[in-house]
Amino acid sequence: MAQKIIIDTDPGQDDAVAILLALASPDAVEVLGITCVAGNVPLPLTARNARMVCELAGRPDIAVFAGCDRPLQRPLVTAEHVHGKTGLDGIDLPEPRMPLQDRHAVDFLIETLRREPAGSVTLVPIGPLTNIATAMERAPDIVPRIGRIVLMGGAYFEVGNITPAAEFNIHVDPEAAARVFASGVELTVVPLDVTHKALTTRQRVEAFSAMPGKIGPAVASWTDFFERFDKQKYGSEGAPLHDPCTIAWLIEPGLFDGRFINVEIETEGRFTAGMTVADWWRVTDRAPNATFLRDMDADGFFALLHDRLARL
Ligand code: RIB
Ligand code: CA
Repeated sequence: MAQKIIIDTDPGQDDAVAILLALASPDAVEVLGITCVAGNVPLPLTARNARMVCELAGRPDIAVFAGCDRPLQRPLVTAEHVHGKTGLDGIDLPEPRMPLQDRHAVDFLIETLRREPAGSVTLVPIGPLTNIATAMERAPDIVPRIGRIVLMGGAYFEVGNITPAAEFNIHVDPEAAARVFASGVELTVVPLDVTHKALTTRQRVEAFSAMPGKIGPAVASWTDFFERFDKQKYGSEGAPLHDPCTIAWLIEPGLFDGRFINVEIETEGRFTAGMTVADWWRVTDRAPNATFLRDMDADGFFALLHDRLARL
């Protein structure tokens, strides 16, 4: 039976691939809605981009909601230097025609979690955690009703990609992340330690380009654009497809490996705010609160991605 999910996102080319993978996999995941948050680019653009991706997938019926336009306490940090001015630079797509939903994303999260059977909905945050934390703060009763959270964020062995200590999604809103990690909800974390192994090598990009239809060439154009940042910074072979790893884990968890450990969020460090302090070696007596992934079968991931996207 397909898992009911809500994708919380800040598209972002890699977010876009995650949304496509989810919409290509109705046997595995049922997308109840897409909630947008400020992150890679400001909220008006993330809400625009999410709808453009749904229309590219032929799914203008998907309910897309705009959420929080800034972090809980800090000024918004964006990543146009990685994702381009629009956040979805690469292939030119038509402006969205499907409407944005009237309700605020946080209201949609609360109402859906109160309506659906307790434990039946998985939240998949792939941007800053502002919407999720705001919903938890505004309606604490929904917390025990969340089935689980599978999020892209954080890093331990890979350390930071936006500061020396912090990964972008956590860095943008450390207070929101701290709330989510302390919530007690079953949590699977997909950190840079994993996603930096999901690299779009030339061969993989060419395989996307060669796919019939619009989806493969769109994915190739997005990765061609946003790989510049990682290639220049890390000298890597391509762009890390961060966000689709969350959806791939839901579809085929055996592609990944990790440990159930304690993960705390640094919110006060002058140089380390947003760091995920992962007790990988269990050197503290802090209670485990997250399955923190560490490894993945990258070839298996790209085979899954290619097979599924070809279905759209
Ligand atoms: O650090 C990578 C994360 O930050 C990804 O979710 C990417 O889309 C950006 O939001
Ligand atoms: Ca993202």
